[in-house]
Amino acid sequence: MIIEEQCGIIYEVEMFKDGGKVYIRIPFNAKELFNKPKGNIYVKGTINTISYRNKLISKGNGVQIMLINKKMQKMLGYDDTNMKVKLTVTEDNNISEEEVIQTLIEDSNVDVLSAISTRRSIREYTEQNITDEELNTILNAGFCAPSAKNKRPCNFIVVKNKTLLMELGKTNINGKMIINANCCIVVCGDKILEGIKELLIADCAASTQNMLLAAHGLGIGAVWCGILQNSDWKKQISRQFKLPEGIIPIAIIALGYPNEIKIVEKRFDASKVHKEIW
Ligand SMILES: Cc1cc2nc3c(=O)[nH]c(=O)nc-3n(C[C@H](O)[C@H](O)[C@H](O)COP(=O)(O)O)c2cc1C
Repeated sequence: MIIEEQCGIIYEVEMFKDGGKVYIRIPFNAKELFNKPKGNIYVKGTINTISYRNKLISKGNGVQIMLINKKMQKMLGYDDTNMKVKLTVTEDNNISEEEVIQTLIEDSNVDVLSAISTRRSIREYTEQNITDEELNTILNAGFCAPSAKNKRPCNFIVVKNKTLLMELGKTNINGKMIINANCCIVVCGDKILEGIKELLIADCAASTQNMLLAAHGLGIGAVWCGILQNSDWKKQISRQFKLPEGIIPIAIIALGYPNEIKIVEKRFDASKVHKEIW
């Protein structure tokens, strides 16, 4: 049912649950209406008079849906049953990179403790592409990591090129999943910014772990590949990416939508917890 109003069209639509997440189906073909056959479509409007900005998810055959994050669900009083709401929707052409990252952060329904305890290394990937917005959200997590004296010596190289991924993966048996990854991030440390090697490695490790968790929060699979400092692989990476003097590769994160299901193990180990003294 459509109710026309002066401020635009108000659609009556249903919020529905699918795979634990809550969505609204856009009641028209947004690709056609906004004349955008390719690329991401960002929209803005209101749901029951509450303003939103969002990105549409294409489900094929002209169907687009949008994810309703937990904050919005709460504001709408969503109670886990299919609920009718009033929706206005227009294209949002002025969304900045930071706003896109913020939208993805808010859309991620995973709380930090669940993300930490359900993350596993994922080494098999589907063909689904990771979007630039998702990549930026992952990189943002890397930049948000703590670093000694807040020197932030980590730099990241994003690699999507299939030939480069193949070259990286084929020369290290432990890194062969990179060949079929959708992309990877080479985590590099700046020795000039952080002169103490142990701290440089610790800073890059903190960034790497943050990015693994961010990927997991977005439903993207990832695995950390260590780079031994006196290995041929390290030399190859430095050469392949033309790393300047003083920039050392410390880890590679292979990324892709998961094509394997990993059991979440309980790992709390009381025998390794020592109280007041070993
Ligand atoms: C410093 C470090 C280096 C790692 N290097 C590799 C690697 O070269 N190849 C790989 O497949 N996994 C690598 N991993 C991932 C570990 O194998 C994985 O974290 C571990 O088996 C536990 O599994 P989980 O991540 O699913 O919890 C590395 C992890 C860390 C922390």
